[in-house]
Amino acid sequence: MSFSLNDKRPIGIFDSGLGGLTVLKCLLENLPNEEYIYLGDLANLPYGNKSTKSIIDYSIKCIEFLQSKNVKCIIVACNTASSVALKSIKELSSVPVFDVINPCVDNIVRTDNKKVAIIGTEKTIESDVYSALIKKHKKNIKIYTQACPLFVPIVEEGLGGSKIAKLAIEYYLSNIRAHNIDQLVLGCTHYPVIIKELQKYFNDKIDILHSGPFISEQLLKYFKQKSKREKAPIYYVTDLPDRFQTLGNRFFNQKINSVTLVNI
Ligand code: DGL
Repeated sequence: MSFSLNDKRPIGIFDSGLGGLTVLKCLLENLPNEEYIYLGDLANLPYGNKSTKSIIDYSIKCIEFLQSKNVKCIIVACNTASSVALKSIKELSSVPVFDVINPCVDNIVRTDNKKVAIIGTEKTIESDVYSALIKKHKKNIKIYTQACPLFVPIVEEGLGGSKIAKLAIEYYLSNIRAHNIDQLVLGCTHYPVIIKELQKYFNDKIDILHSGPFISEQLLKYFKQKSKREKAPIYYVTDLPDRFQTLGNRFFNQKINSVTLVNI
């Protein structure tokens, strides 16, 4: 896959909600001269407890919408869609598609860590995609997995630093903490919003990975920094634009000035 340096078309990104902003944030830091179109499918949030068929259908609508905006590539900034819908998305997309799982796995298999925990939505954990990919390259690694379905609504409600967040972390992760893991992988793009709370819970002793930095690294190989970016990202949602704007502004260093409601 390669791109022309002069291709000025925007990069399309989608997630079920705010989570993909954690990916966009890293992209804006590392590839500041690209243009971006973000789609949050709030009408169908959460994806994590839906059927595979529904997740594929939602994802296809998202890529069709982004393609209608003439994007040059699409980032599936949702681990759930990356876990169960990637093949269908790639088959249908007329532009290159990047997922958030493979670049992170590439990093995991390069380290010496022996005990890794993967957390994500019910669907991502049930798909077992991380373990399957990791084990292909690294056999002698112990992998623990845990679905944390309450983390997404906690983030979407803006309750990241709250008591409820701390209780949910304890509820889901006490078993994992007892295993003395070396690395925790945030297999859901919403989870970096609570990364500080997670670091604290593990006494700042373990490596916590999320997809944003790795997907940025991967894209940097394809796009070179050229002219200065003139436009702020453009945001679309399939429901609740005001809510997306308020919460997005709260944890995103780039101010979200306007969000457009679309029917896809
Ligand atoms: N942020 C998404 C993910 O990475 C989806 C969360 C959800 O909608 O359940 O899995």
